[in-house]
Amino acid sequence: MSTEKRPDALINAEGLRFDGRRPDELRPIQMEVGVLKSADGSASIRQGKTYILAAVYGPRELHPRHLTLNDRAYLRCVYRMATFSVSDRKRPAPSRREREISMVIANALEPALFLEDFPKAVVDVFIQVIQADGGTRCAAINAASLALADAGIPMRSLVPAVAVGKADGTLIVDLGDEEDKYGEGDIPLAVLPKTGEITLLQQDGSFTREELLEAVQLGVNACKYLHELQKDALKRAYAKRTPEDDDEDDEDDEDFEDDLETDLGESDLMEDE
Ligand code: CDP
Repeated sequence: MSTEKRPDALINAEGLRFDGRRPDELRPIQMEVGVLKSADGSASIRQGKTYILAAVYGPRELHPRHLTLNDRAYLRCVYRMATFSVSDRKRPAPSRREREISMVIANALEPALFLEDFPKAVVDVFIQVIQADGGTRCAAINAASLALADAGIPMRSLVPAVAVGKADGTLIVDLGDEEDKYGEGDIPLAVLPKTGEITLLQQDGSFTREELLEAVQLGVNACKYLHELQKDALKRAYAKRTPEDDDEDDEDDEDFEDDLETDLGESDLMEDE
């Protein structure tokens, strides 16, 4: 749970953060893939005390139809915080912050996806914050990109994300809640590791030009490490799957293709085949 009071110092005399981390050290991170039975793809992430689930459905028929895009699939992301995810009860109605973060997450993920392969369809990404302790939008991107890969959505790459901030004048990586609340600012960013393309860059607080450039470099380096964790999580999930699971998946794929044909008619989806 978050402390209500500002810690005496966010950076101590030894240059360590109040939770003992070095400025460029991430929190302990656990990622897991295939955690939900009913979703086409799913993943969880624990990043420090932040705990998030992501579920992906699709590509599937889009409702309401007026949102249909003729040249690509619509990536519909919904980021929600559970009422019990923060120390003050979060009101259950979707807040402006949740709507904004949903959009920001979709924008960060979209460049990694071949949405043009699925015109008129939707890929639904549901993100539920179970426990919030700072850095939820970035942790959500880490988990959502794993869930998309688990759902077999064609991707250019996974999308690692992390926030870099400033506390007591020092740049720090992967902010916890207190650092987010009482620090001098934060810069959440997401990167496509293969190309170095930055798909999310926001800034809260003030940074000099030099600080901003250094913060981006620190974030990109941290994303390389997060990308390795993401790949490990995917490998672990696939190593666990038995040949029977694969047979079932093949059957599911056939059912899915039949459903898609029925749902979308003789759609553009089949054009390339
Ligand atoms: O979570 P993230 O850093 O991406 O977004 P934020 O809007 O900067 O929120 C920072 C942190 O504030 C969250 O991670 C939560 O720990 C906390 N928060 C909260 O306590 N109550 C809310 N209604 C929203 C956020």
